[in-house]
This record gives sequence, structure tokens and C-alpha cells, in this order.
Amino acid sequence: MIAARARGLDTCPQAAWPAYEKAIKPVLGIGENETIVCGMALGYKDPNAIENTLVPDREPVEGFTTFLD
Ligand SMILES: Cc1cc2nc3c(=O)[nH]c(=O)nc-3n(C[C@H](O)[C@H](O)[C@H](O)COP(=O)(O)O)c2cc1C
Repeated sequence: MIAARARGLDTCPQAAWPAYEKAIKPVLGIGENETIVCGMALGYKDPNAIENTLVPDREPVEGFTTFLD
């Protein structure tokens, strides 16, 4: 997701995908011994779409990270 942002793309991880595993696996050639954990939309966001204007509260990085020199 960070690599996508670095290239001007936007992402949206979606853990709802595993519910549709039976339909997705044959399309993507995923083996029977493999499991879908998460999907991810990749593309360019529409800045004018109302759903893209939501800015949720976030814990600042310093609140859950310790940087060591
Ligand atoms: C691992 C992961 C799985 C997610 N799965 C879903 C999902 O199945 N459906 C959904 O509507 N949002 C899902 N979300 C939330 C959205 O991807 C997204 O994080 C949310 O809309 C807030 O956007 P933002 O992270 O850019 O603030 C998931 C987020 C993460 C991190």
C-alpha cells in the first residue's frame, strides 16, 4: 500500500473477500491448498466522491511506535 502511494495510486484493503473464496479462487488461479486472507482495491481515487471525503481519527504514529537510533 505504501509502494502504491509512492506511485500515485490509492488502495483499500478488504477482508470481506474470503467470504467469496469459492468464486474468486478459480478466476485468479488460486490453489485449493491456499487461502485468501484479504483483498485490496488498487487504482486512482475520485477526490469528488463523498465516500472519499471521510477523514477518520487516527492514533499518531508516536502513540504506538518507539523509534530507536
Ligand atoms: C486489513 C483490513 C481489512 C479491511 N477490510 C474491509 C472490508 O472488508 N470492507 C470494508 O468496507 N472496509 C474494510 N477495511 C477498511 C478500509 O480498507 C479502509 O481502511 C477504511 O475505509 C478507512 O480508510 P482509510 O484506511 O484510508 O482511512 C479494511 C481495512 C483493513 C486494514
